Amino acid sequence: EEQVTLQQLAAKMSLKATDVLMKLLSMGMTGVNINSTLDADTAKILASEFGWTVEDVAVSEEQSLTAATEVSGESEEGSEARPAIVTVMGHVDHGKTSLLDRIRKASVADGEAGGITQHIGAYRVETPRGTVAFLDTPGHEAFTAMRARGASVTDIVILVVAADDGVMPQTREAISHAQAGKVPIVVAVNKIDKPAADAEKIMRDLSSLGLQPEEWGGETQFVHVSAKTGQGIDRLLESVQLVAEIQELKANPKKRASGTVIEALLDRGRGPVARIMVQDGTLRTGDVLLAGSAWGKVRALTDEMGRSVAEAGPSTPVEVLGLNEVPSAGDPVHSVKDGKTAEEIAETRRKKAKTLIPQDSRVSLEALTRNLQ
Ligand code: GTP
Ligand code: MG
Repeated sequence: EEQVTLQQLAAKMSLKATDVLMKLLSMGMTGVNINSTLDADTAKILASEFGWTVEDVAVSEEQSLTAATEVSGESEEGSEARPAIVTVMGHVDHGKTSLLDRIRKASVADGEAGGITQHIGAYRVETPRGTVAFLDTPGHEAFTAMRARGASVTDIVILVVAADDGVMPQTREAISHAQAGKVPIVVAVNKIDKPAADAEKIMRDLSSLGLQPEEWGGETQFVHVSAKTGQGIDRLLESVQLVAEIQELKANPKKRASGTVIEALLDRGRGPVARIMVQDGTLRTGDVLLAGSAWGKVRALTDEMGRSVAEAGPSTPVEVLGLNEVPSAGDPVHSVKDGKTAEEIAETRRKKAKTLIPQDSRVSLEALTRNLQ
């Protein structure tokens, strides 16, 4: 069996077992301690949280325990700066999509059904200080899982709070997702153009939730913006880039691609369609791709504008055709060396599907945030 204890895994990564345990708990696993046995999938996901790669996810029956869970350090060679992945979160109607529209100078909000965001939109935007990949998320309470996913693939969260409204349930929920993932938050106090806007109140309320404004001696940047007039948008982008620069985000475009499924669906004409965020490496048409328990040869790649592309590098959202089934949002994505390996891993995962972490973490994040409300 391909298993390793939490303590063994921590030792391989030269980390304290308690730190690894904390991470596992923050990912939503319950009932674990440092002596718990992890299956290969869990070990792999956990290790990747610390920037390590577990070699050979192939976990075929004949492979030994060590081969399945062997950990090797991420090679620094060939790694270079990559764009930040920024997720926009906040309560329903506080202006997340409008803000992104402003940033993109497009108008997605007008085209959305009823103006309510139904899925995660993903875009790359050229800002004066470089490229940023943005993820929009819905604020409606029904979409907790999408917000949890948004927070799990991101480097920075922009927390949008309407200045004429205040801190609401999904504002708190967004904060808890970001904190669970140890993701820095930049606060966008939006709708500052409105007569009823009270930015001070927002700052006070968020302070009491642990987000202290810099101007009050804290560590969180608050930017007053209006998606309507465009006020403060430049400053918001600057703040985001400042936080990104501190993180020194790196990826290696020469590696095989890895990333996360943002959303997926079955299209009548095109078959399974997966929108993924490439987080490391480069994905190309013709690559063999594994996405959760789905796999296939990449037949076509499409960017966020619907244009066909030959490849997608780090921090790039891309739509993929060619998988044999529809993966689940949140599934890890890996380009693997051949179809046989991919099929084996997919099969193993299908058998283990019930115990995979992403499912568990979604459920318990939901439970967690229910408790906070
Ligand atoms: P969900 O995706 O449903 O959670 O909403 P959202 O946060 O994306 O809000 P959206 O951008 O759809 O905006 C909600 C409403 O607020 C729309 O009618 C916008 O026109 C309006 N709005 C957004 N930003 C501003 C702003 O800065 N000022 C004013 N006055 N109205 C705004
Ligand atoms: Mg929206």
